[in-house]
Amino acid sequence: VSQSRYTREEIKEIVAYASARHITIVPEIEMPGHAVAALAAYPEYSCTGGSFEVGKTWGVLDDVFCPKDETFTFLENILTEVITLFPSEYIHIGGDECPKTRWKACPHCQNRMKSENLKDEHELQSYFIQRIERFVNSKGRKIIGWDEILEGGLAPNAAVMSWRGTEGGIAAAKQKHFVVMTPSSHCYFDHYQGNPKNEPIAFGGYTPVEKVYNFNPTPKNLTSEEANYILGAQANLWT
Ligand code: ACM
Ligand code: ZN
Repeated sequence: VSQSRYTREEIKEIVAYASARHITIVPEIEMPGHAVAALAAYPEYSCTGGSFEVGKTWGVLDDVFCPKDETFTFLENILTEVITLFPSEYIHIGGDECPKTRWKACPHCQNRMKSENLKDEHELQSYFIQRIERFVNSKGRKIIGWDEILEGGLAPNAAVMSWRGTEGGIAAAKQKHFVVMTPSSHCYFDHYQGNPKNEPIAFGGYTPVEKVYNFNPTPKNLTSEEANYILGAQANLWT
């Protein structure tokens, strides 16, 4: 989710470099939230029309993609290009931390909820992710998203990254969906790793290396069949 910009040729070089070392890069295109950088350039895909400024620090912002048809066309065009550049089986579509504030006050969103028989904005988020999943599946790929994609109903072939603890991952494995465990308690490398007064600025938290190494991504309370759905762990280093 780095906001660096790369040319297509640079991306091809990075993918090849990783591949030569048996590493698969899974790109993440964040939606419907955490996308103010995109909305700053394309405010027409928001609920209010903007204007917006690219974030200069971390945070969860109320302005998110508005699920209008034009927004899906925009995102599908981006995903098509991403899929062309990245050969990974999975494409990460984000899905985390999407406030519903704008959707509650937006006529487009409220009309979409009526026409699709959605009972609340969580179901609208689920509609958003499932519609994107159908598109990604139509290109022969699968989606992976943060554990919020469980809310309002998991898209049929989606894999889940469990970041708000391991509960989301456990729920997904029990529903026979693949899971990457990445709980903020153990896997967030933007936390302090020592005494904050001796360290450069971090997001917060305290996650020393001993705690990280002691993390077991396969919860003991899963059956062996369910445990097969745990793909492994991921560490997150947000910039
Ligand atoms: C996340 O840290 N918002 C996935
Ligand atoms: Zn809207």
